[in-house]
Amino acid sequence: MHIGVPAETRANETRVAATPETVKKYVAQGHTVTIQAGAGTGASFPDEAYTAAGAQIADAAAAFGAELVLKVQSPSVSELAFMKRGAVLVGMLDPFNAENAQKLAEAGVTAFALEAAPRTTRAQSLDVLSSQANIAGYKAVLVASNLYPRFMPMLMTAAGTVKAARVLILGAGVAGLQAIATAKRLGAVIEASDVRPAVKEQIESLGAKFLDVPYETDEEREAAQGVGGYARPMPPSWLARQSALVHERAKQADIVISTALIPGRDAPTLLPSDTVQAMKPGSVVIDLAAGRGPVADQATGRRGGNCPLTEADKVVMHHGVQICGYTNLASMVAADASALYARNLLDFLKLIVTKEGALNIDLADDIVAATLLARDGAVTRKT
Ligand code: NAI
Repeated sequence: MHIGVPAETRANETRVAATPETVKKYVAQGHTVTIQAGAGTGASFPDEAYTAAGAQIADAAAAFGAELVLKVQSPSVSELAFMKRGAVLVGMLDPFNAENAQKLAEAGVTAFALEAAPRTTRAQSLDVLSSQANIAGYKAVLVASNLYPRFMPMLMTAAGTVKAARVLILGAGVAGLQAIATAKRLGAVIEASDVRPAVKEQIESLGAKFLDVPYETDEEREAAQGVGGYARPMPPSWLARQSALVHERAKQADIVISTALIPGRDAPTLLPSDTVQAMKPGSVVIDLAAGRGPVADQATGRRGGNCPLTEADKVVMHHGVQICGYTNLASMVAADASALYARNLLDFLKLIVTKEGALNIDLADDIVAATLLARDGAVTRKT
């Protein structure tokens, strides 16, 4: 099969969908691989490394013209025009974005959105949300420590003692747990909140304190169980109690890292403006839900994140608090993010390409069925 790997063109996107390591494996499997010139540069993989792995270097039209195209982000309409009808596209194609799914369907491509894979043990090795959120959680702490005008660890020096930074993590999924682990290594004192009771043990095992908001009704208890491992929107009664606790803890915190998401819905508001206003001057918020919260400014349509003051891809200052809304933290660790993502793709392709190199879309496979977004001119998944 002919596999094409175009360069990513979205702003702030430095990752690439194949690395010399995975190209070598594709070539060993009998595939031919075309890499767009410079596709790996942002992730520190020069063209020569791909050539040495057995790929051909070519232009965008040639990479998009392959039978199977591997991407990080969804292609633009002009890029889709390079693709052949019936060709296969695999990437992070934004499965809840109905407009984009329609564009892919209209281009006639068979599109797989890997973010839609089930969170099952069998899907773990191709779980792109986990591989990339893990990196985002790590980088969030490092970006915070850069913006924060103090030390993270407790220090006893001849010139006096420095207190450890207090870090509050909101949402303890893949990103949040990695943020806890990373902040712990830097010596911070950490508290974390989540709606799912299952995470209490994980938070505590990483050395952080779990902020407990006990459930008071069966409705609250049931919503907190989530669905398929994901959070569901919590009843307003529970959210109000959580909000009061977060407000109190944020006042004491030096750094807040918020990662709370609910798939297919607006991210919950966990840090309203009055909570930011109550925070200490010099403190820092890193909002990983930037651009995915409710509309925060009707005039411009700007979406916030877990905090309505967050502005996507900017660092803004409100009430003496810096709020960072970088939306692509994984891209700031481009080499490793690409290496892990490329391995996710390598594993996914085992499900849709036979050993003989033929395409085999088996809808009886739950991972294949869940990720198939468009085929034969139609959107095949509820977006
Ligand atoms: P996510 O990125 O969708 O959400 C991040 C976190 O925000 C979640 O922990 C969620 O519970 C939390 N959250 C949502 N609303 C909140 C609120 N109001 N307050 C506080 N926290 C809130 O989730 P992610 O990280 O993708 O993982 C979801 C689950 O899937 C986790 O339990 C994870 O461990 C599990 N998982 C299972 C895998 C497997 O079995 N193969 C692989 C990866 C993840």
